[in-house]
Amino acid sequence: MGGLGRSATMNAIDLQTVLSESLQAGTLISVVLSKPTGDDAIKKVTGRPIQIRDESMFQLALRSGNQETHENISIDELTNRLAGWFPDRFANCHLFTNSADYQFELRRGGEIKSLRSRPTKKLKSAEHNRSKNYLIPEGTPCAFLEAIDVMTRSGKVRKARYSKFRQINRFLEFIDDVLEELPLDEIRVVDFGCGKSYLTLAMHHFFRNIRGVDCHILGLDLKKSVIEDCQRIAERLNLEGLEFRVGDIASHQQDERVDLVVALHACDTATDATLAQSIRWNARVILSVPCCQHELNAQMTAATVPGITEHGILRDRLAAITTDALRAKLLEIHGYQTQVMEFIDMEHTAKNLLIRAIRSNSNNQLARQQDEYAKLKQLLGIDTFALEKLLAELSEEKPSA
Ligand SMILES: C[S@@+](CC[C@H](N)C(=O)[O-])C[C@H]1O[C@@H](n2cnc3c(N)ncnc32)[C@H](O)[C@@H]1O
Repeated sequence: MGGLGRSATMNAIDLQTVLSESLQAGTLISVVLSKPTGDDAIKKVTGRPIQIRDESMFQLALRSGNQETHENISIDELTNRLAGWFPDRFANCHLFTNSADYQFELRRGGEIKSLRSRPTKKLKSAEHNRSKNYLIPEGTPCAFLEAIDVMTRSGKVRKARYSKFRQINRFLEFIDDVLEELPLDEIRVVDFGCGKSYLTLAMHHFFRNIRGVDCHILGLDLKKSVIEDCQRIAERLNLEGLEFRVGDIASHQQDERVDLVVALHACDTATDATLAQSIRWNARVILSVPCCQHELNAQMTAATVPGITEHGILRDRLAAITTDALRAKLLEIHGYQTQVMEFIDMEHTAKNLLIRAIRSNSNNQLARQQDEYAKLKQLLGIDTFALEKLLAELSEEKPSA
């Protein structure tokens, strides 16, 4: 349909075809329905694409008189609504796409005229942010993502799995940033609380197929059935260097060297067990995104920080922030350069932090860090802290080792 001069009359094209093609290509900019056919209270409808938590949706503005109401609907729902609105309730429907404007008009006698003309609107990048260059790109078929139902065979990311796709890619970016800290011949990784192994499989793909480095990755989880599923996928895809085991992070024994420990949303104190094990093995890099954190909340009262902890939600957030701050400080005390970073935006606030710790060879700040750790605990009335206890047990273990 190239070579648009002036408006062209196009009787062969129908609204649903233009709609589904432009939605699929991501080129739809807006939809406008006008000229109500009856005495409908709604005189005009305008719709535009929006992203809500990584999901592509449509925002409708429904105008009646001077009032405008808004509604966010799914893409499927948009298709249904449009079929009901045009031509039964509105005589005019405009579709603005990146490549052309389309006008559909109900004429007297029931005939529908369609016109296609030069595009008058431009798609803004904020309206369509899917073109980001991910390490595992969208649009290219990827066997493991297909196996875990994140992508279709043709490489399209399933709408419902987009946030997982983005989360995995974000985590890989953090790994890519620390690649020079890891060995070049074979990287040995432990993924604690691997769950359905989205990240485990993604790391395997990333090291072997994207960066061309050999790796051995162990995924560990408490749930037997989940681990059996992971094993089946690894076997089906014939993936070497991947191992899955059922087990508890805290009691997991590891004789082999560990270069990188990752934990994505390991629940509550499972993150502390992850950090303690990593320190025990002297892992070179730790990347941990904590999950729910209940331990310190129980030790804070309304009077701990007057004005803040008297509000339940603020106490909850302060407890979560303090937990990660104390974890970071303990990692520093144990010789890790540590940063607490934003993992991903638009996530639940309590789950969007990443603790990145890189083993350093010297620590000449030990006394200052110990002092800061003690002061922070005292300031917030903390008696016991899981990671501190685990590390104390570790140092009791060491002399006899
Ligand atoms: C929220 S899921 C995250 C799964 C996966 N890392 C991801 O992000 O897709 C947390 C997982 O940690 C596992 N888990 C929690 N505590 C654990 C522990 N102490 N030892 C091993 N696995 C644990 C759970 O069984 C669950 O599969």
